[in-house]
Amino acid sequence: MKFATLSHLLNENNIKQIPPSWIKNDYIISPELDIDGAKGYVIALNLLPKQVIEFPREYIRNKIIETALIAQNKYGVEIIQLGALTTSVTNGAKWLADQKEYTGFVTHGDSYTASVTIHAVLKALEKFNKNSEELILAIIGAYGIIGEAISKILVPHFKFSKLIGRRKEKLDELTTKIKGNYETTTELYIKDSDVIVTATSHPTALLKEKHLKKNAIVVDVSQPPNLTQDILALRKDVIRIDGGLVDFPRAYPMPIPGIPKGKNFACIAEVIMQAMENEEKNHVGSIDLNHMKKTEKWGEKYDYILKELTNFGKKI
Ligand SMILES: NC(=O)c1ccc[n+]([C@@H]2O[C@H](COP(=O)([O-])OP(=O)(O)OC[C@H]3O[C@@H](n4cnc5c(N)ncnc54)[C@H](OP(=O)(O)O)[C@@H]3O)[C@@H](O)[C@H]2O)c1
Repeated sequence: MKFATLSHLLNENNIKQIPPSWIKNDYIISPELDIDGAKGYVIALNLLPKQVIEFPREYIRNKIIETALIAQNKYGVEIIQLGALTTSVTNGAKWLADQKEYTGFVTHGDSYTASVTIHAVLKALEKFNKNSEELILAIIGAYGIIGEAISKILVPHFKFSKLIGRRKEKLDELTTKIKGNYETTTELYIKDSDVIVTATSHPTALLKEKHLKKNAIVVDVSQPPNLTQDILALRKDVIRIDGGLVDFPRAYPMPIPGIPKGKNFACIAEVIMQAMENEEKNHVGSIDLNHMKKTEKWGEKYDYILKELTNFGKKI
């Protein structure tokens, strides 16, 4: 199956890092990639995160379907992964899967991302000799696609958890799915939290110096990141860890600005693995934990796994 990852620019500098020949009018497309025999493309809307979130939803969705149809009709793409905030504006990628003109498969790639992020948290606890039963965990964006799966798995391990989101009714719904000792809240109060996972669709950095407890560990899966290098420069005690980044061992230079050499976003790894496996299915909306386990097996098979903890791509 030919794959495409369809996303958007993550910051203003990205466009300068992309070869001009890849830039079409409204979108950007790489040459055809060949990754262990899986053929496909990196495609991006020529839009910034704030535009994706703040422009009228119908306008953004039109851009997504127009680009998906170009991928299908001109480039023969059969499976599309909706990356970064394109999942958030398409109801967990379900909207694209429902469009009749697009006949291929759709995945958000969030299943493997959630799994890799959970492993990053557990690896960090081990590395820094921490016992989860003594710690407070905060998950920001807890009823989102990634946040919900992470909450289901991680909350039972911790002494106490704070599940944070913006809408009370969605938080109430979440309580029917999560076991363990926790509260849900719309307040971004995490000053008491030892471990913080960010999985939000906030289009800019969300966390400030004042939010963070001394020596907090932040596993930041959000793209664009929710914790920036500027804040880390002010808070040298805080440990930031990339969530959702896997080793991509044969050093494929993924033609995406910001992806460190030899690494890849787990969501892109997921669609590549699904294409290699020829699995003709949609993976949209809430994460099926059985599918998540399957992506872990794929990860081991293709050796696209989390081998080392990194912060903005640099080994910790
Ligand atoms: N590293 C990787 O490989 C990788 C892969 C996939 C995705 N991601 C990133 O992971 C993040 C989550 O993705 P997703 O697919 O799970 O998105 P999602 O389903 O849209 O979930 C995002 C959640 O964040 C919440 N949110 C937004 N702003 C917030 C704020 N200021 N405070 C608290 N909650 C807030 C949203 O709440 P509302 O619904 O109420 O707005 C939503 O529930 C995104 O940044 C995405 O780019 C990274």
